[in-house]
Amino acid sequence: MCGIVGYIGKREAAPILLNGLRRLEYRGYDSAGIAVLNGDLSVVKQKGSVENLELALQEKGDRLYGATLGIAHTRWATHGDPSDRNAHPHLNGVGDIAVIHNGIIENHMSLRLELSSHGYVFRSATDTEVLVHLIDRMWKEEPSISLEYAVRRALQHVEGAYGLCVISSREPGTLVVARKGSPLVLGLGEGEYFVASDAAPIVEHTRKVVYLGDGEMAVITEAGYMVKTVENIETEKAVTELDFDLEEIEKSGYEHFMLKEIFEQPAVMEDVMRGRVRLESGSLHLGGIKDNLEHLRKAKRIIICACGTSWHAGLIGEYLIEEFARIPVEVDYASEFRYRNPVITPEDVVIVISQSGETADTLAALREAKDKGALVMGICNVVGSTIARETHCGMYTHAGPEIGVASTKAFTAQVIVLYMVALALSQGRTLGDDEIAGYLQELSEVPAKVAQILRGNEAIQSIAESYRDARNFLYLGRGYNFPVALEGALKLKEISYIHAEGYPAAEMKHGPIALIDEDMPVIFIATHDNTYTKILSNIEEVRSRKGRVIAIASEGDEEIRSLADHVIFIPSAAGPVTPLLTVIPLQLLSYHIATLRGCNVDRPRNLAKSVTVE
Ligand code: F6R
Repeated sequence: MCGIVGYIGKREAAPILLNGLRRLEYRGYDSAGIAVLNGDLSVVKQKGSVENLELALQEKGDRLYGATLGIAHTRWATHGDPSDRNAHPHLNGVGDIAVIHNGIIENHMSLRLELSSHGYVFRSATDTEVLVHLIDRMWKEEPSISLEYAVRRALQHVEGAYGLCVISSREPGTLVVARKGSPLVLGLGEGEYFVASDAAPIVEHTRKVVYLGDGEMAVITEAGYMVKTVENIETEKAVTELDFDLEEIEKSGYEHFMLKEIFEQPAVMEDVMRGRVRLESGSLHLGGIKDNLEHLRKAKRIIICACGTSWHAGLIGEYLIEEFARIPVEVDYASEFRYRNPVITPEDVVIVISQSGETADTLAALREAKDKGALVMGICNVVGSTIARETHCGMYTHAGPEIGVASTKAFTAQVIVLYMVALALSQGRTLGDDEIAGYLQELSEVPAKVAQILRGNEAIQSIAESYRDARNFLYLGRGYNFPVALEGALKLKEISYIHAEGYPAAEMKHGPIALIDEDMPVIFIATHDNTYTKILSNIEEVRSRKGRVIAIASEGDEEIRSLADHVIFIPSAAGPVTPLLTVIPLQLLSYHIATLRGCNVDRPRNLAKSVTVE
């Protein structure tokens, strides 16, 4: 999704902005641009990578030199194709105002018509361009007002979502930013300020940040900053300390962020449990929800809302909560939930799950649930994110920054949090202390088991070589491993562009079996549990139709060796923790197939890390 960086201070703006854009590359983008103010505005923007933008900037070197104020953007096309002209920043007609924008201006068509009727000429197909002309128009109507007021007046006409930065040579030395829907973070340095759509470009300069809230603007000069609402009411903002290091957002010697993040999982899992799982006493301490635990335990129904991989974690959460706590659970796509006027009562609890904490659909589901009176709990990775702030209570996953677009460590961290929540809900109700202690013991053994699976990486890579040219894949699992089948298929399709489907294994005979032939590899998650023998029958059905079988099986299972073309063994474990193990080989398999096909695994085409538009 689009990325924003802004700088104002005493240093050269251009290198800081470019570096910031590099840190935002993980979000996914198709074009990039920069504007700096050095007397006049200088703008360079084009389709393609930040690296190409840097080359283009070198040609313009002199014009950018000396500028200490600027804004920069990576665009992910929504309105208008990825092209030089649609790249941000956008300028007004005379080129003295520059705007970058994340989000979508929903009434851009009517604004465009109106502005055109006043002689404004549009040079791009973007919704963003209306903003810069609108600011220009407001300023022309009242030339004595400041840039801040011109932006404020313009925003009164705008419907939709925005995170935006504006600079103008009419008021050099001021950076105006505003937020509604799309996140913006302000970094506070010594005599310098940074703005970005997330903290990644800021952390190397300062740890002190201010998160802008919805409907807030900041007016920033070298001398200081002021946060106000769009209605011009001054707001006191808390300064937050960033809790991650630059090293955590760098690759640490791995070829890709995705691989680094897959390999970080044992350590991340320990972090998620740290201070929460007390093995000595067999108890749980969940600070973020402790005040609401009684309310959560009394829920008549729990509804889990999320998107994509987080939704898959939610499905595992459903199985866990129903098994441990015996509370009925429904899992909804956040995008569907928000539009179908769901029946929610104050006796319901809604759990929203989001790595980024900024996903527009999940945020809207949260607001819908709150409006209808439900208690809303969040499970987020990004500290201080909008979803984390708007929920009544919640738990952070503490997985550290996830840079690879395909979610890996955030998924396993979400599942661990759900596992802990499910146990906390069952305490004093459906499970005895000994049972809880036993389940916690199982969980605590997971990181070492994951490390063991990761040691089999090379064997998984050689399996990937046999399937790099496949055009379709089927993933089948049952029980706790059905959501893992969905997740495995999603991982493969998003980074390798191979079509893949996940199904409950027993559903195969109701349709997908028609697809099986020698060109259809089928991945069976066939660990030892109560459906194991049924899965073996499904494997036989695939083999008799010449399908190729890759099985994820429990250590020591010799029977499956004779049935499958390839077997990846995982250490044995109790059913509720198996998803945390079985998903690991599937992440690695997708990663290797994608890299063997030459795909950009960290930034797959058309995808964004944080989907802040509908
Ligand atoms: C898949 C993936 C996406 C996200 C989805 C929700 O690897 O990353 O499917 O899971 O866009 O994002 P969050 O969790 O940030 O709300």
